[in-house]
Amino acid sequence: MAVLVTGGLGYIGSHTCVELMNAGIDIVVIDNLYNCKKSSYDRIKALTGRDFPFYKVDIRDAKGLQNVFDSEKIDSVIHFAGLKAVGESCEKPLEYFDNNVNGTLVLLDVMRKNGCKKIVFSSSATVYGMNNVSPLTEDMPVGGVTNPYGRTKYMIECIMKDLFASDNSWSICLLRYFNPIGAHKSGTMGEDPNGIPNNLMPYITQVAIGKRAELGVFGNDYDTPDGTGVRDYIHVVDLALGHVKAVEKIRKEDGLFIYNLGTGTGYSVLDVVKAFEKASGVKIPYSIKPRRPGDIATCYSDPSKALKELGWKAERGIEEMCEDSWRWQSKNPDGYPD
Ligand code: NAD
Ligand code: UFG
Repeated sequence: MAVLVTGGLGYIGSHTCVELMNAGIDIVVIDNLYNCKKSSYDRIKALTGRDFPFYKVDIRDAKGLQNVFDSEKIDSVIHFAGLKAVGESCEKPLEYFDNNVNGTLVLLDVMRKNGCKKIVFSSSATVYGMNNVSPLTEDMPVGGVTNPYGRTKYMIECIMKDLFASDNSWSICLLRYFNPIGAHKSGTMGEDPNGIPNNLMPYITQVAIGKRAELGVFGNDYDTPDGTGVRDYIHVVDLALGHVKAVEKIRKEDGLFIYNLGTGTGYSVLDVVKAFEKASGVKIPYSIKPRRPGDIATCYSDPSKALKELGWKAERGIEEMCEDSWRWQSKNPDGYPD
């Protein structure tokens, strides 16, 4: 039996596909190629030396999904497919709710019709909103999200909790990611954003490679040690390994499980700049800009529940995250080939 990986050619999905296959787990991948290149499929195969089925399917397309279930033996799903740009979600809320929320409803319905009731979902630390104090634990209240993207994650969590309440034979794992950065050690897979990067690390690597003149640091007057925002950066391979543990758990046990995937350590924007400069030997010019609307001062996890229940812990530190991000960017200045 295989795990269906939705959005499996994207940044986190592609790294997870590699680790699933390294763990001997069979996969089937779907992606509508909206935010990735098909060449990411070739890179996954080259890295693992294994072939696997890929279908270009949109999760909102029930017939397309049914065809995948008819053609493959699938017992569980890891659901990455979604739109993820916070700023864009404020401009296009309907598209975000349609793609993320409606898409998930279609997927869950097709799963149910096929007797497949095991799913791992890509949630986000954003569901903790503005009012909880870090370190964030899974039992803190969620909601109070500041943008449509975050609301799609919160709404999908609610949908999945209601689904489990209605039918305890589901096994659902909500993984709340903190800030994934880094890339595969080989330098052949990494994050490949379209246009101007929204997130810190891809912006830094594009400054380093000469594509952008300088980094704008969004605010240096937060209540943090150096005044810049503090986040819990996690290496994407550690995150991928967390999915291997999560899917192993839902295959064994029915239930509703919620885990933070983070390191438990916060770094400021300037800490990351310094760590990147050290790892790459490249100076990152920056200037202080106004705060970005919706940003909070500090956000980091308490990852102890995932250690206790999944036996998972992030192993890779900020140096390695920076080295691997730089290796990917410097070897692939224009990202994945078309
Ligand atoms: P990504 O954009 O690289 O990957 C998402 C993939 O899903 C893309 O390949 C895209 O083409 C595909 N996709 C989007 N809509 C689809 C649809 N309707 N049908 C089929 N495929 C579709 O993003 P990522 O960083 O790998 O994120 C993966 C998941 O993790 C997303 O759900 C995202 O919201 C969530 N997440 C990401 C972060 C982060 O910082 N990267 C943080 C928290 C949560
Ligand atoms: N930042 C800058 N300059 C930039 C980009 C970011 O100073 O050009 C700062 C931000 O203000 C913040 C930190 O760097 O303090 C991290 O910002 P990111 O945009 O990289 O990440 P966020 O923490 O804002 O958001 C990320 C994902 C969301 C997810 C959230 C969960 O983008 O999808 O983590 O915590 F919901």
